[in-house]
Amino acid sequence: MCGIVGYTGTREARDILIDGLKKLEYRGYDSAGVALQQDGELVITKAAGSVADLEKKLVNNSKNINMGIGHTRWATHGRPSDQNAPPHSSASGEISIVHNGIIENHRFLRKWLTEEAGYTFRSETDTEVLVHLIEEHYTGDLLDAVLEAISGVEGSYALVAASSREPGRLVCARQDSPLIVGFGEGENFIASDIPALLAHTRKTCILEDGEFASLTAESVEIYDAEGRLLEKETFEVTWDIEAAEKNGYKHFMLKEIMEQPVAIRETMRQRIDAAKGKVDPTELDFSSEELARLEKIYIVACGTAYHAGLIGKVVVEQLAGIPVEVDVASEFRYRNPMLGENQLAIVISQSGETADTLAALRLARSKGVKVLAITNVVGSTVSREADQVLFTWAGPEIAVASTKAYLTQLIVLYLVALYLGEGRGTLEPGQSAELVEGLLALPEQLKAILSEENTAKLCAYCDHLSGWGSAFFIGRNLDYPVAMEGALKLKEISYIHAEACAAGELKHGPLALIEEGLPVIALVTQEAVLDKTLSNIQEINARGGAVFAITQEGFDDVGRQASSVFTIPPVNDILAPVLSVVPTQLIAYYAALARGSSVDKPRNLAKSVTVE
Ligand code: M6R
Repeated sequence: MCGIVGYTGTREARDILIDGLKKLEYRGYDSAGVALQQDGELVITKAAGSVADLEKKLVNNSKNINMGIGHTRWATHGRPSDQNAPPHSSASGEISIVHNGIIENHRFLRKWLTEEAGYTFRSETDTEVLVHLIEEHYTGDLLDAVLEAISGVEGSYALVAASSREPGRLVCARQDSPLIVGFGEGENFIASDIPALLAHTRKTCILEDGEFASLTAESVEIYDAEGRLLEKETFEVTWDIEAAEKNGYKHFMLKEIMEQPVAIRETMRQRIDAAKGKVDPTELDFSSEELARLEKIYIVACGTAYHAGLIGKVVVEQLAGIPVEVDVASEFRYRNPMLGENQLAIVISQSGETADTLAALRLARSKGVKVLAITNVVGSTVSREADQVLFTWAGPEIAVASTKAYLTQLIVLYLVALYLGEGRGTLEPGQSAELVEGLLALPEQLKAILSEENTAKLCAYCDHLSGWGSAFFIGRNLDYPVAMEGALKLKEISYIHAEACAAGELKHGPLALIEEGLPVIALVTQEAVLDKTLSNIQEINARGGAVFAITQEGFDDVGRQASSVFTIPPVNDILAPVLSVVPTQLIAYYAALARGSSVDKPRNLAKSVTVE
C-alpha cells in the first residue's frame, strides 16, 4: 500500500511531510524517507522502521525548506532495508521520486537500463527503475520526462517526482494507485490519501488513472496521458480524520471487505499470462523433476488461513493430483507428522509472524522438507525463513477479522495448484485457460456482490440473525470450508456462537439443536452435490430452522427450498469459494454492528498471535 506526501509552498516542508506520513502509517510501514529541496539539491533522509524514527533523524535538519516529498513504505519489491527505503534518486542525484504500486515490466526495464543505458542500480526496488527512466528522458522539463518515462511502463503506480533543476515543482502520475491533490493558499499538496491533507486543506481533487499533475506553490495543472491540460472539479472533504483513514467507511473491516476486488486483482497481477491462458508465478522455482517427484503436500496454518488451506487441499488434489494434508499449526507441531522425502510444506499466514505457523515451518525444514510460504507481509519472519515465498498483495489488513488477506490467500492457492498441475501435466486440455479466464473475471464479479442492493439485503437479514445466540453454517465439498470460515467470522466479531457443519453430518448429531426460527446459513454452490445439500435443507426446514442460502445464479431449486436466498454470479464451481465467502463476511459485519460489538478489535483477540 505505502503512503506518499508531497509539499510545495512557503512553510516548513519537513514538518508537513512528517505529519502527513504519520497520518498514513495505517497503510502499513517498514521504512520511511523524505527528499527535501535544500540549497539547490535534493537531500534524502531515510530510516528503517516508523515515521517517528525518520523524524528523529531530521531533528537537526536545517530550517526554511519549502518543498519536499516523503514516503512510508510497505515493502513489495525488495526486503525492508535502508537501501530499499524510499525516496530513490537518479544517478546524478538531480531527480528524486516516491512511488506506490508495482512496475510489472521492471525486469525488462532494469535490464535495458543496465545493459543499454549504463545505469548502476543501488536497490532491489522497482521504483529505482522509474527514477533512472525519468532521468534518461529528462531534457529540462520534469513533466515531459515523466510523461515519456511512464509511456514505457506497465503496472500500477502513484508517483511523485522532484528535480533539483526545477525548484518548487512536483510532478505526479497515477495508475491504479490513489493520489489526491490538496489545494492551499500559496501552497499545494499531494498525498496518497486524504488524512494526510486534512490538517492543511479540505479542498481536494482526485487524480484519475492515466492522469498527471504539475504542482508549484502557486499552481496546480492536471494533464491527460497525451499531455493535454484538463479542467478538473475540486471537492470539499467533509469527513473527520478518523473517517478519512477508513476512506469514509465506519470500520476498517468494511473498508477491507470493499477493497477485495482490487486486492485479488493485485495478487494476480504479473502472475497470469492471459494471452497463453496460463499462470506464470515467476517467483516459484521448482524443477520439473522436483514437481514430478512430489508425493505429498502439507498445508499448515491457523484460523482463517487454515480455512484457506482447506480450499487449497481440494484444489491442489483436483488439479495437480498430489495428496494434501491440512493441519492446524498448533496441532501439526505436536503430532509427529510423517515428514520425509518428495514432500512440500505450504505455510499460510497473513502476518507471517504467527508463532505456531512459524514453528511448523521450522519443523518441516528441520526434516529436509522444502517450505513454500504464502504471506502478506514482506520481511516477515515466515517470508525470511521459507525456501520460497508467494506474497499476497492485499495491502495492510488492520481489522482483526481477516477478510481481504483470506481472499488473496485463496487466489495464490489457485495459482499454485495450476502451476503444479501444469508442471506435472495433470490438467485436462483447456482446463488451465478456462480457470485463468474464471480467475480474471473474479474482481468484477466481486464488485457486483458488493453492490449497495446486496449489502442492504444482507444487513436486513442480520436484523433476524443478531437476535439469536447461536447459528449454523452448512455446506458440502468446497462449500464446507467456506461454511467454517463464515462461522469463525460470525463468532469472532458478533460473539454469536456459530458452528460449521458438513451438511451430510447434520443427522449424526447437530440436527438435534435445530429449532423453530434458528438461523442456518447454507452454502450451496457446488453442482455435483446440489441435490444432496437440498435434501439437507429440507431436513432443516422440517424442524423449523430458517435457512438463508448462498448459491450461484442458475441454481433455481435452492430458491424454492430456502427461506431466503443470496445469489452470487455464475462461476466455475472450483472458484466459487472466492465469491461465496463474501456474503458471509458481510453477515458477520452487520450482525456485529447490530449487536454493538467492537468490530475492528473484538474482545480477547489480537491481530497477530506471536505467542503459542
Ligand atoms: O497472521 P495469520 O494469518 O497467521 O493469522 C492466523 C489467524 O490468527 C487469523 O487468521 C485469525 O483466525 C483471524 N483473526 C480470523 O479472522
